[in-house]
Amino acid sequence: MKPTTQCCLIFWCFCFGICNGSAPSQFVHSSPHFPDWKKLYFVYHWPVTVCKMSENDCNNPPMYWTIHGLWTDKAEDCNKTWHFNVTEIKDLLVDMRQYWPDVLHENRTKFWKHEWDKHGTCAATLESLNSQKKYFSKALELYEKLDLNSYLLKLGIKPGSTYYQLEAIKEALTSAYNVTPKIQCLPPEQGEEVQTIGQIKFCFTKEFFLRNCTESKVDSYSARGNAFFGTEELSLCNDTLTNYPSHVQLYK
Ligand SMILES: *[C@@H]1O[C@H](CO)[C@@H](O)[C@H](O)[C@H]1NC(C)=O
Ligand SMILES: *[C@@H]1O[C@H](CO)[C@@H](O)[C@H](O)[C@H]1NC(C)=O
Ligand SMILES: *[C@@H]1O[C@H](CO)[C@@H](O)[C@H](O)[C@H]1NC(C)=O
Ligand SMILES: *[C@@H]1O[C@H](CO)[C@@H](O)[C@H](O)[C@H]1NC(C)=O
Ligand SMILES: *[C@@H]1O[C@H](CO)[C@@H](O)[C@H](O)[C@H]1NC(C)=O
Repeated sequence: MKPTTQCCLIFWCFCFGICNGSAPSQFVHSSPHFPDWKKLYFVYHWPVTVCKMSENDCNNPPMYWTIHGLWTDKAEDCNKTWHFNVTEIKDLLVDMRQYWPDVLHENRTKFWKHEWDKHGTCAATLESLNSQKKYFSKALELYEKLDLNSYLLKLGIKPGSTYYQLEAIKEALTSAYNVTPKIQCLPPEQGEEVQTIGQIKFCFTKEFFLRNCTESKVDSYSARGNAFFGTEELSLCNDTLTNYPSHVQLYK
């Protein structure tokens, strides 16, 4: 679905390392109000699953992975005086609407405000993320570079009625990116036998190098929940059959 898909993975890795990794010590010291976080999560979610988890009506969710957010591993709501101002990202709105949509609420601005308040104000201790423009641009840039939608298609993993073994999805992604992302699922609902894939988190260093996500059953974010989308229902996927749904209605 993205036009700029051509660049191959090796070039991508190369470019990623050189372009983003070369600037040393780009961060500011953390004060007590700004917990010393260690890594960033770039979080994709699958709109159909987001819809499935919601009571809201959800018409025609996009059939591609969209951005949930760019999060730090520890901190939340770091600077309550730094208010979201959509005018600062006016140049990004075309991409924001396409790749960072809020499929549940009509006012998309609220989702972006929520992400900025909760995560952006913490990530902003990095010089490279210390404005709303920089934070949202960087997330869009990571979205494009990771290019998850194209990779999944190339790996033959497509939404629909075929169930996948979680392990197969994980191995495919690991071979494509050379790091293991965290994959979160909606547990089987009553009458269902399979879990439903919902989120994929890629882990980055503060220098924006991809890194392995350390496996941990206790996932601080899913434990703490996300009231905005009701994603507290998501947890680390089990190694079982996994649904990658293409329709909301079938499952309601
Ligand atoms: C907190 O937010 C204010 C804007 O209200 C900003 O001037 C200040 O630099 C921020 N502090 C940090 C450490 O990000
Ligand atoms: C929002 O950002 C714009 C552009 O930077 C600025 O002109 C405006 O004063 C800001 N609004 C508020 C309420 O801070
Ligand atoms: C959308 O939400 C933003 C942020 O909460 C708010 O400032 C704005 O007024 C809302 N817009 C509408 C049309 O309700
Ligand atoms: C991630 O872990 C795998 C397996 O342990 C390893 O082969 C790979 O090099 C690691 N990737 C990075 C970027 O550290
Ligand atoms: C994974 O299995 C555990 C133990 O059976 C269960 O509590 C949890 O809800 C399952 N998670 C998913 C995503 O199905």
